Amino acid sequence: MSLQLRCLYVHSLALVVTLLLLSAASGGSDKVKNITAVLGRSVTFSCALNNGDSVEGLYIQRVINDKEEKFINGFYNNPLPMEVPEQYQNRTTVNKTGLSVEMRDISVSDEGLYTCVVFINKDPNIFKILLRVKAEYSVPTITAVCGQRSDGGAGQACQLSCSAAGGYPRSAAGWAELNQSLIKVINNWSSADNESKTWTVNQTIMYTCDQPTNISCAIGGAVSENVTICERNLFSLVVIAAIAVVLVFVLLVIFVVVMKCCCGRQQNPGDPSEEVGMPLAECHSQQQRV
Ligand SMILES: *[C@@H]1O[C@H](CO)[C@@H](O)[C@H](O)[C@H]1NC(C)=O
Ligand SMILES: *[C@@H]1O[C@H](CO)[C@@H](O)[C@H](O)[C@H]1NC(C)=O
Ligand SMILES: *[C@@H]1O[C@H](CO)[C@@H](O)[C@H](O)[C@H]1NC(C)=O
Ligand SMILES: *[C@@H]1O[C@H](CO)[C@@H](O)[C@H](O)[C@H]1NC(C)=O
Ligand SMILES: *[C@@H]1O[C@H](CO)[C@@H](O)[C@H](O)[C@H]1NC(C)=O
Ligand SMILES: *[C@@H]1O[C@H](CO)[C@@H](O)[C@H](O)[C@H]1NC(C)=O
Ligand SMILES: *[C@@H]1O[C@H](CO)[C@@H](O)[C@H](O)[C@H]1NC(C)=O
Repeated sequence: MSLQLRCLYVHSLALVVTLLLLSAASGGSDKVKNITAVLGRSVTFSCALNNGDSVEGLYIQRVINDKEEKFINGFYNNPLPMEVPEQYQNRTTVNKTGLSVEMRDISVSDEGLYTCVVFINKDPNIFKILLRVKAEYSVPTITAVCGQRSDGGAGQACQLSCSAAGGYPRSAAGWAELNQSLIKVINNWSSADNESKTWTVNQTIMYTCDQPTNISCAIGGAVSENVTICERNLFSLVVIAAIAVVLVFVLLVIFVVVMKCCCGRQQNPGDPSEEVGMPLAECHSQQQRV
């Protein structure tokens, strides 16, 4: 038993030495495969080779500080010469036939560089896999408060705020519909949650405009609903037009009434009872204008 253990130990030591030598020799020239995992979900590290050679072992390792490699899980004939660290025991599953390792419940701290070592005829083949973690931001909340410009110029000055939470990585707020050179950033704030490491982002800007503009804001791919700013000009135009229409209508009605009463009096001069309350002077002036 102890002989077997020593054999295993020597065997794994030899493997580790070979690995270190190989990874040092290959340096950073290796192609890196990039994969993305969604926070809280699972990801599969796939180490499948194209050729049909029989594979006797597979290791997934985490690269720490660019050099040290920490074993995560894998297989090497039977039994495995290295122990699966506790934090990966319930979270990883090796698929021997698929030459892959599934990792579940991905957190932000899983982000980083991994190596996949596939042994064929005792020869280790090393691949690098860069894992990135992603979390969608909530739909951003947009608020707009518009008012008179402080310098008395034309148009309106609007204070616009945009905020979203729960995203990763950190992202900045963007205002696609606005003229970027007119944006004045008042407040640009972001903060990471201690536990989940996800970000809450908040930005407030000042923007001056004299045309009604439909705007939205975006944070990390999540887009807010639309709001329309600088509507007042349009609103007052509509109001002025409406008032003008009403005024014209009222004047027309008065004109028609006056015309009717004056002409009626001319046709029936002997019936004064119908003319009660009609000022004579006004009637005359209307007649003269016509
Ligand atoms: C993976 O990401 C790294 C770093 O962003 C980049 O240099 C590399 O080209 C990417 N590899 C592939 C295959 O896209
Ligand atoms: C792994 O799962 C077993 C059984 O469900 C449990 O007893 C153990 O505490 C878990 N280990 C970790 C590190 O979560
Ligand atoms: C292992 O991988 C193979 C090939 O990708 C797949 O067909 C099989 O379903 C996987 N097995 C498990 C248990 O996931
Ligand atoms: C706002 O902060 C983000 C990071 O949170 C940064 O990328 C961006 O450049 C900042 N924008 C301005 C205008 O300061
Ligand atoms: C943005 O504003 C600048 C400064 O007022 C102006 O010169 C430029 O033409 C505007 N760009 C657009 C696309 O409206
Ligand atoms: C965003 O920033 C504004 C201005 O600093 C603040 O009033 C608001 O409460 C912040 N919103 C969030 C969700 O942090
Ligand atoms: C703004 O959007 C609304 C509905 O989304 C639309 O009816 C309106 O015409 C748009 N206004 C402008 C100025 O684009």
